[in-house]
Amino acid sequence: MKRNHWLLTVLIVLTAAPGFSQKPDPVKMKIFVDALMKKMTTDEKIGQLNLPGSGDIVTGQAKSSDIGKKIREGEVGGLFNIKGVEKIKEVQRVAVEESRLKIPLIFGMDVIHGYQTTFPIPLGMSCVWDMNLVEQSARVAAIEASASGINWTFSPMVDISRDPRWGRISEGSGEDAYLGSQIAKAMVKGYQGDFSSNTNIMSCVKHYALYGAAEAGRDYNTTDMSRVRMFNEYLPPYKAAVDAGVGSVMASFNEVDGIPATGSKFLMTDVLRTQWGFKGFVVTDYTGINEMMDHGMGNLQQVAALALKAGINMDMVGEGFLTTLKKSLQEGKVTQKQIDDACRLILEAKYKLGLFADPYKYCNMERSKNDVYTATHIKAARLTATESFVLLKNQNNLLPLKKTGKIALIGPLANTKENMPGTWSVATDLKTAVAVKEGLEKAVGSSAQILYAKGSKLSSDSNFEKRGTMFGRELAADNRSEEELLTEALAIANQSDVIVATLGEASEMSGESSSRSNIDIPETQKKLLEALLKTGKPVVLVLFAGRPMTLVWEKENVPAILNVWFGGSEAGNAIADVLFGDVNPSGKLSTTFPQNVGQVPLFYNHKNTGRPLTKWFEKFRSNYLDVSNEPLYPFGYGLSYSNFTYSDVTVSSKNLKGNQTLTATVTVTNNSKVDGKEVVQLYIRDMIGTSTRPVKELKGFQKLLIKAGESKKVSFAITPNDLKFYNYDLKYDWEAGDFNIMIGGNSADVKSTMVNWVK
Ligand code: BGC
Repeated sequence: MKRNHWLLTVLIVLTAAPGFSQKPDPVKMKIFVDALMKKMTTDEKIGQLNLPGSGDIVTGQAKSSDIGKKIREGEVGGLFNIKGVEKIKEVQRVAVEESRLKIPLIFGMDVIHGYQTTFPIPLGMSCVWDMNLVEQSARVAAIEASASGINWTFSPMVDISRDPRWGRISEGSGEDAYLGSQIAKAMVKGYQGDFSSNTNIMSCVKHYALYGAAEAGRDYNTTDMSRVRMFNEYLPPYKAAVDAGVGSVMASFNEVDGIPATGSKFLMTDVLRTQWGFKGFVVTDYTGINEMMDHGMGNLQQVAALALKAGINMDMVGEGFLTTLKKSLQEGKVTQKQIDDACRLILEAKYKLGLFADPYKYCNMERSKNDVYTATHIKAARLTATESFVLLKNQNNLLPLKKTGKIALIGPLANTKENMPGTWSVATDLKTAVAVKEGLEKAVGSSAQILYAKGSKLSSDSNFEKRGTMFGRELAADNRSEEELLTEALAIANQSDVIVATLGEASEMSGESSSRSNIDIPETQKKLLEALLKTGKPVVLVLFAGRPMTLVWEKENVPAILNVWFGGSEAGNAIADVLFGDVNPSGKLSTTFPQNVGQVPLFYNHKNTGRPLTKWFEKFRSNYLDVSNEPLYPFGYGLSYSNFTYSDVTVSSKNLKGNQTLTATVTVTNNSKVDGKEVVQLYIRDMIGTSTRPVKELKGFQKLLIKAGESKKVSFAITPNDLKFYNYDLKYDWEAGDFNIMIGGNSADVKSTMVNWVK
């Protein structure tokens, strides 16, 4: 009887293990994991909750030592940021051959905007407004990462941010919950697919929650906001990722409402699991549990127990779980069930990835040679980069440039490969990135001359320059003085027909722990720009930025500005494509550009207040004495080499009832001689509510190619679902009344019409 039972278990477990290319079956998964957990000791279960860093890439204090020994003893559930398929294969071998239960490890990495082939930084990606391209970028990243041993990525980062001081605004999708949600969904799909193949990897949405609302834009700082704002304006992208089936969630470092997210039962259980039905696992951010000691939540044993009980399942780096949970169990501070539940979720993730069927599924040497940095991927990265650039100004159609004559290419960012991919591009080979100089030279061949000079340092503060060019992204050493650099640049500028000034931020001037209180172009580069303008030659500013920057002077004085963010490994080629008009720019801003830092937070979907402004300045109205309320560039803004005009909005009905569908239509005309893509944007204002409603909210968009001279009808279908919001009691519903339906090419410039909708 006993033997039969054993045989049956083996049979069930074997048939439950998923094959290579099978969608995971939840019933079989449960049977498999149940059987495995029966064999596990409490120590081994706690071991599954432990995620040490590999030491290859470190963003905080690295805590783990002697990882090999720990793996053999079943004290490790996964490893992250370990680079190289051979290394990963060997580590996996140790896990599945030398540990008692032979449980495979998961291998995570910050594959944020590509693996070796890098795409634009996420903020740039969010200016593409084409969800197929966004999904494709995640797909390419998944193919390359999975070919390199990685089966789990810490992406997408979906933290809404309205504060350009915050360096990590570069890693997210901007200020809008709707756009952010579409991107979250597309990326999860691109990474995970349905887990049926060895090119699908697990996605981890982060940083849950509200990390982008750090007070004063200072990284890791406190967040505090009303629940109504949280649910309406900040949580939707995380929820969208959950709805899209994201396999894991990363807790954020910050506190929310006085409780660090890592210890927040409200966030990790009540909202994430109970309200949203999340079925995957939650990992802390780097030493997130340990940091709760600094937050003032107790000693390591106490904060580790707090995290587990809140709903955290895996502990990144800090080993708080590993070193204290057993003791807490013995003392009755946590329960066996809490440990079991967490362990089950980690094992299920491994099951979904197919690692029990084949622990080396992601260690295919052939794939690692053939599937990474392929011509197709490079082409996709280049095209996507061109679509992420935002043309901010183009006076008298200075752009596109002709591929003739003498072009002066000047600026500290003109000839640096290392600064092209942008922050969080840990798996790329920086040396293969295409610098602007290289891209321009290739594009013009022998038909034009590119004259290059560095022109200035990044900043005259060498410490600032050092902080902004870390992780191998230093600018080439140059001992010349500011005057020498400027003299050389002016000599070149004076001989040229046109000047391309490549200025702005280096790649590590945004990203983690890279907040700035002044978001101007650094002073020394500005001086260079002024001097270049004084030559009287036409100047194009190619602006590198990981955040919205303050550019009042530049907007007024520089004839053309192309914001290129950090375009990824093909940045230089993509910049050439757009500068010379081989690609017509079509990116639109996903964040508001303020006039100055004093206006921050400045965002398009603000409330009206009881004293809105009709015209600046008005005494006793909501405005400033020294600057208008207007942004420098509004959300959704971006020019093209084409010229698009919008007709008035027509609607299928002015009076709607219940679940009817409203169709709103405009005709968009390309009044130019060049084909171009336009992002047509739909905004709605709910005119009266039981809670105050924003002056407008993005509810839809379509990016379309409109040929020169062509007119296209663009329609949006609107249902009551699009009108829903969380009211004061956090009930998600819509309210009858008047709605302003607005359509336009950016959030400030729209055509509109009113409709009435009753229940
Ligand atoms: C960052 C995360 C990242 C993690 C692992 C942390 O410092 O906040 O975004 O995924 O490190 O590298």
